[in-house]
Amino acid sequence: MKPDIKIFKDPDGLSHAAAKMFIESSSQAIAQRGRFLVVLSGGSTPNQLYQLLASTPFRDQIDWSKVHVFWGDERCVPIDDPDNSYYQARLVLLDLVNLPADNVHRIQSDFEPASAALDYARTLKVFSAPPLDWPRFDLVLLGMGDDGHTASLFPGSPVNASKPVIAITAQYQNRPAKRVTLTPLVFNSARRIIFLVTGATKAVTLTEVLSDVSNMNLLPAQRIQPTDGELLWLMDEAAAGKL
Ligand code: 6PG
Repeated sequence: MKPDIKIFKDPDGLSHAAAKMFIESSSQAIAQRGRFLVVLSGGSTPNQLYQLLASTPFRDQIDWSKVHVFWGDERCVPIDDPDNSYYQARLVLLDLVNLPADNVHRIQSDFEPASAALDYARTLKVFSAPPLDWPRFDLVLLGMGDDGHTASLFPGSPVNASKPVIAITAQYQNRPAKRVTLTPLVFNSARRIIFLVTGATKAVTLTEVLSDVSNMNLLPAQRIQPTDGELLWLMDEAAAGKL
């Protein structure tokens, strides 16, 4: 299925559009199912979106009491480490909205990675949509590295993971190597997946990922193909520069 690509002048325009989509997804999920299950992404790109969601008018358009927050991946560092994705989201969003603490489902990054992966699979099971052992997330937010990775699915990592959550060790920029990540099994059962990609450094890889040439082993972002959901790619003009 051809992905739906939306190009914005700059990260600010992209973040405002993403905030409106977040609100739309939350309102629809809460109206239909009484709750909104959302997967946040780490990395720097979503920060402006998170800041918008924590500010007026966006904050007041979400019923935070019915929102449950999860992560697509996590770096195995302490929860007060600036590299921790949960920590980053707390600073710019979670601590600034009326989200019940019990609705924050972080990956136990202080556990050994393999234990954290097992623990998170148990958390997903609590919210599962039988016959799946995990939820059909209403919205998944993802970024893309300039190497084509997404979440912590890196080039060369196992393609057909049979588990919903796995432990990974990978080097990327100066970020923590030991990680836990959801696998395409979980991502691809989501109702809506939105990639947020900005910056010229990603332009070449973005062209490769979005081409008709499948190369999932080298370009893990290509593994994100929702089975019965919507896939949106939001990018700024810099990232779209080679499309
Ligand atoms: C992480 C993310 C990772 C990120 C990409 C893009 O924990 O770092 O899961 O997949 O989305 O590396 O990161 P930037 O948004 O910082 O470019």
